Amino acid sequence: MRLIFLGAPGAGKGTQAVYLCEKYAIPQISTGDMLRKAVKEGTELGRQAKAIMESGGLVSDDIIIGLMRERLAQPDCGRGYILDGFPRTLAQAAGLDAMLGKDGIQRVLLFDVPETVILTRLTSRRTCSQCGKIFNMISNPPPADLVCPDCGGRFIQRDDDSEATVLNRLRVYEEKTAPLKGYYEKQNKLAILRGDAPLDRIHREMDDLVAPLVQ
Ligand code: AP5
Repeated sequence: MRLIFLGAPGAGKGTQAVYLCEKYAIPQISTGDMLRKAVKEGTELGRQAKAIMESGGLVSDDIIIGLMRERLAQPDCGRGYILDGFPRTLAQAAGLDAMLGKDGIQRVLLFDVPETVILTRLTSRRTCSQCGKIFNMISNPPPADLVCPDCGGRFIQRDDDSEATVLNRLRVYEEKTAPLKGYYEKQNKLAILRGDAPLDRIHREMDDLVAPLVQ
């Protein structure tokens, strides 16, 4: 199963990817998580990405495509994967097609959520600083002591989840990423889901969409 999860910041790509990845034992490949790890470890990539991520801009296509080429060559990708947050520009989508061929990706799931919902969601999101587990102070609160039940890490607010940065991320999404909808529509791969529905309904809709892909 080789899927792309598309959607604005906070549309629920990471949250919904965890559900399918656990169910089908495939990796969730999040360029955002990879970049945050690089920032935390202080690598050269992390140093280049830090300020861009904090402002809500995009890291350059060349860097991201190179990162993904290496990641998709890893053995754990053999049974499939969910790409979460990549591609994010038309150049990245073309780079992915060049890497995998046009039949490489089977389905693109776009999570559609109104901007007002996104703003509330992201400013109330809390993320484990160690393992990246996601909670939400309104819809799914973390433990009161803010200690992650999975790894013992601390829950924090991401640097790019302030209101001003979220507004910039939404603007960048509309300009650079929203055109991918037409790109994948033309390839007959796009499915649009309401990302502001209850989680159990989103799970059912994803199950129905991906079941035909499983042999
Ligand atoms: P990245 O980490 O990819 O951020 P994003 O795409 O902006 O997406 P988010 O992680 O903010 O949101 P999400 O859709 O995963 O939502 P979530 O599941 O957490 O990228 C960060 C930065 O890295 C970028 O700005 C850029 O600088 C750089 N970058 C990354 N990839 C790049 C690329 N390819 N090219 C260039 N630069 C790149 O959900 C949000 C909240 O909502 C959570 O609290 C969750 O609990 C809650 N929630 C989810 N679903 C529901 C529901 N159905 N009902 C109620 N609450 C819900």
